[in-house]
Amino acid sequence: MARQKWGSRWAFVLAAIGSAAGLGNAWRFPYMAYSNGGGAFYVPYFIALFLAGIPLLMAEFAIGQGFQSGAPRSLAKIKKGAEFIGWWAVITGALITFYYNVIMAYIFNYLYYSFGVAWKGDPNKFFFNEFLQVSNGPSELGSIRWPIVIGLALTWLWIYFILRKGTTSVGKTVAWTVPLPVILLIILGIRGITLEGAAQGLNFLFQPNFAKLAEPRVWANAFGQIFFTLSLAFGIMIAYGSYNKKEEDIANNAIITALGNSATSFLAGIAVFSVLGYMALQINSPIDEVVSGGIGLAFVVYPQAISLFPGGVIVQSIIGLAFFVMLLTLGIDSAFSLVEAVEAAASDKFKFNKRSFLIGFSIFGFLVGLLYSTQGGLYWLDIIDHFLSIYALLIVGILESIIIGWVLDAEKLRNYINKVSEVKIGKWFDISLRYIIPGSLIIILGLTLYDEIK
Ligand code: PHE
Repeated sequence: MARQKWGSRWAFVLAAIGSAAGLGNAWRFPYMAYSNGGGAFYVPYFIALFLAGIPLLMAEFAIGQGFQSGAPRSLAKIKKGAEFIGWWAVITGALITFYYNVIMAYIFNYLYYSFGVAWKGDPNKFFFNEFLQVSNGPSELGSIRWPIVIGLALTWLWIYFILRKGTTSVGKTVAWTVPLPVILLIILGIRGITLEGAAQGLNFLFQPNFAKLAEPRVWANAFGQIFFTLSLAFGIMIAYGSYNKKEEDIANNAIITALGNSATSFLAGIAVFSVLGYMALQINSPIDEVVSGGIGLAFVVYPQAISLFPGGVIVQSIIGLAFFVMLLTLGIDSAFSLVEAVEAAASDKFKFNKRSFLIGFSIFGFLVGLLYSTQGGLYWLDIIDHFLSIYALLIVGILESIIIGWVLDAEKLRNYINKVSEVKIGKWFDISLRYIIPGSLIIILGLTLYDEIK
């Protein structure tokens, strides 16, 4: 059977941007920039983007497209023994989806809670005590939280329907799930910057602290953010590339994907920090004390800001809805891309029927998600997230770039990319794959391990 193909170039590019632009853009990037030098962070950020992120993205597109295979089979075609790296990548991705979807389930609930601003004046208490009813520690799982389970079921069903007809149904979905969150971010950003105190918030985000650039960790954070945000080393971009024709442009598509993703991050930074500035002014507290990232930003800090918005409950409900619809549509393309990477790998190897595989995998993922839907679930989510981001993402990235850069030979891959692409790339691509990418990932791994044992 012929391999499925994207309906158009834009279906492919939007799907790739959709995977890259996820919850991390909204809640990881702004906090990362703020705590790593503010405006000065853009220096290491863009260096990492051009020296490491874009080259690895091109390489992943290129091997998927060239070998017409998902990650394990593409790597196996380079070297038989490298197949396990591909499996490692997609299995990690699967483990991530299992809890990423639980966060999607939280978001579904908060869509509902936005009506009438259910968290009232105390979103912290609402989130931890009423919604999660969180227990005292990971060993105390407690009972299942049914609202999360309902959200989880909706998320898996949605993913099933998006992936059911492969590239055709994905293409139809990304035509709206990629632009919609961007439009909502623009609306939220405009509302944000017209609030009192917004300027102070944005100052915090953009004021450059160049002294920070002397710290190696700031550079490591920038490289880490770039690999993570471009969804590299999970086999996703390889799987997506494999549904292109062998002659499809690579260099241009990778650059568009990377810049589209960064634009989403910058918009999110503006939308979030303008509102944080407003909130700091309202509650009369220094901005440092209100900024946060991650789950705390999405379910506690931003909701708190919403309940301080001028215009009464109706306006606040609308802002809340806009915010959570933005997160939901931003996150869904990342969530299903992880599943698609597994699906591509599994059907290359075992010739599964796509639909049966999807049904089985969704049910399995839903069941695993029940662990995270308990009162102790959030602890587990944190522990596993931390573990996977060190041992999986970094190690896969190192091995993958070595296999592509040295065993396949970066120059050979570059010749293929240049044959099909409008923009021609130079020798820096080889240097990036052979030295910069593995080198920077090894340094990040070293710094992280050092922090662990310190
Ligand atoms: N790129 C996504 C983000 O920034 C995160 C992600 C990584 C999603 C890997 C899927 C796979 O949120």
